[in-house]
Amino acid sequence: MAKLIEYQTKEEAANFVAEHIAESINQFAPTEKKPYVLGLPTGSSPEPVYAKLIELYKAGKVSFENVVTFNMDEYCGLPPTNDQSYFFFMYEKFFNHIDIKKENIHILNGLAEDYKNECEQYEQEILKYAPFQVFMGGIGPNGHIAFNEAGSSRNSITRKVKLQDSTIKANSRFFSNSLEKVPKYALSVGISTVLDNSKEVIILVFGKAKHEILQKTLEAPISSTIPSTFLREHNNCLLVCDNDAASG
Ligand code: GLP
Repeated sequence: MAKLIEYQTKEEAANFVAEHIAESINQFAPTEKKPYVLGLPTGSSPEPVYAKLIELYKAGKVSFENVVTFNMDEYCGLPPTNDQSYFFFMYEKFFNHIDIKKENIHILNGLAEDYKNECEQYEQEILKYAPFQVFMGGIGPNGHIAFNEAGSSRNSITRKVKLQDSTIKANSRFFSNSLEKVPKYALSVGISTVLDNSKEVIILVFGKAKHEILQKTLEAPISSTIPSTFLREHNNCLLVCDNDAASG
């Protein structure tokens, strides 16, 4: 079952999510064999969550020393030095500012020579560490979770995916509005990777542009036509939205 929590602004919503994650980390008793495992997204929605988590870290309220992270996805063909790669984003917006150990950070390699092997290894590594205590994600305007586009099966695992035209268009805002510059393929964890390995899934839904897909996520028939509808099958999924996404 998915629960919806609405906040007036995305900043308030992001503060709630960051504090919730910090509390979840603080309550967890990690051991060397069982660290805290956190799934993370990119995009504009998580930015204020990362900013608040950094603030909490700097105030001494949370430490990431015993946290292992896995990112959801990465564009194919972009080197980590490209400022639109998800690798670059994660270090710039989050990892460079906290006490996480580099060896505990996992991000799919968009430059891997053998994508199939890269995805298989990544899925194996996730299964080794599973369960995620929290998997935080965003949602694309077409209902994609990570880069699981329409047609992605409920049983999908980490793999190479072709991006839909609507996703290329939505993400072109980060590539000087040029459709040509947006990579056409990406590596992404699957729906099963997220839903079958997470104790809690938190999805951020901010802004007017997400109103329609939020409604569909909650009310449309559960099917791969709108992958975000699968979230309703998870027993502990929280959709956190702002007023704009809720009321359109
Ligand atoms: C990209 C990412 C998704 C993310 C989505 C929404 O396509 N691959 O993981 O959820 O964008 O991003 P935003 O939060 O910027 O709307």
